[in-house]
Amino acid sequence: MKPLIAPSVLAADFANLQRDIELINESEADWIHVDIMDGVFVPNISFGLPVCEAIQKHAKKPMDVHLMIEKPEKYLKAFKQAGASVLTVHYEACNHLHRILQEIKALDCKAGVALNPHTNVALLEDALPDIDLVLIMSVNPGFGGQSFIENTYKKIKRIRKMIEDTGSQALIEVDGGVNASNAKPLLEAGADVLVAGSFVFKSDNPQKTIRDLKNVYTV
Ligand code: DX5
Ligand code: ZN
Repeated sequence: MKPLIAPSVLAADFANLQRDIELINESEADWIHVDIMDGVFVPNISFGLPVCEAIQKHAKKPMDVHLMIEKPEKYLKAFKQAGASVLTVHYEACNHLHRILQEIKALDCKAGVALNPHTNVALLEDALPDIDLVLIMSVNPGFGGQSFIENTYKKIKRIRKMIEDTGSQALIEVDGGVNASNAKPLLEAGADVLVAGSFVFKSDNPQKTIRDLKNVYTV
């Protein structure tokens, strides 16, 4: 099956954001990945609600909002109103993950949980029935354009087995350093959704790059 492709607007040209959202609209991308960084949970600040609202005005694909923030529970409703279809919180930022997942579902969003590179996937065992998407970070969150961490493959295989063993329907998303060379092995390891920022937006032809990722089994 073809993967879902989620270009990350973190690598877009913020002075030409409408142009880059339209580029994603007209491409084979499935979702628009939106990275929210608060400068506390991660050592960088990206953008917040007003920019999400601006993206929502032009986006024709679902917005996949990745909250790299402390206390995400305070902002779930606001990000839903700003256009989120998928709301992903970090395991490391949640003291009451179960409650947060129920709140996301009550907002009628897909509930995602992200894991930092050194967070063990086994920690999700009891939460899995409540999770729609597991986001495996393949770089340390905070910046685009970093190198892919090879240990990610093992983590994807382990979470894929947990998902199959428990009959969960959760999707596995990989985020960070995704490119033409690791896309296929990531899918073979069990990933369903590929996030790609720099690889898409720094390429000469972003729409072709998205198409190539989408059709990685056939190119
Ligand atoms: C990193 C972000 C990623 C980032 C990926 O903290 O969560 O979504 O935009 O960028 P690339 O594909 O350039 O690694
Ligand atoms: Zn992200």
